[in-house]
Amino acid sequence: QQALQIAIDGPAGAGKSTIAKIAAKQLGLFYVDTGAMYRVIAYKVLKNRAPIDDESMVSQIAKSTVVVFDHSDKRIVWCDGEDVTQEIRCPEVSRAVSVVAAYPGVRERLVELQRMEAERGGVVMDGRDIGTYVLPEADIKFFLTATPEERARRRWMELQKAGKDVTYQEVAIDMAERDRLDTEREVSPLKPAKDAIILDTTGLSIEELVSKILALVQGG
Ligand code: C5P
Repeated sequence: QQALQIAIDGPAGAGKSTIAKIAAKQLGLFYVDTGAMYRVIAYKVLKNRAPIDDESMVSQIAKSTVVVFDHSDKRIVWCDGEDVTQEIRCPEVSRAVSVVAAYPGVRERLVELQRMEAERGGVVMDGRDIGTYVLPEADIKFFLTATPEERARRRWMELQKAGKDVTYQEVAIDMAERDRLDTEREVSPLKPAKDAIILDTTGLSIEELVSKILALVQGG
């Protein structure tokens, strides 16, 4: 019997990672943040000052990068042995990541890593194409949404808390552009799987959402 697989997809700021982390802990599963993997590649492209429009060079970088996750509570992300946990959340990476994530060569390499992570045991995996492509046989699939205003507000508050100097407007604009690129790209665009449960998280607290999701997982 295959270990439990829970897929959580949706646009930026819909609450995926917050919920996935808590649900994984409560259910005793691994949490796999696939967005962090794409961010590592974007980080490395920027660090190497490689031309981001050069698809073959970016794909080559993806293939030669060693991405490692620490599954402890610290959730450290390593890029070729360097701790990049903080760096991958900066606005420059956020702006570059959707360009990099649209390249098939990059996706191929990271999907392979994601499926390997899922072979280690039960997982809660969050991303954009988990239910549609990475884990099509997942036991249960969620697609989280919220209004663009609420999503931008949540992300802005997160950045404020982390001491980042950005305005709500900047966050809202960057987020809208990222969602547009993610939705319109040709390979594995952001969209709900046919069998996904769509949840609008607008106005819901984290506790409400977690209990809703756990009830659906345990009831199903
Ligand atoms: O989840 P997060 O917002 O950190 O993801 C960053 C970016 O990585 C997304 O905007 C998207 O371009 C890309 N991504 C993806 N497929 C995934 C997860 C993330 O294309 N499964």
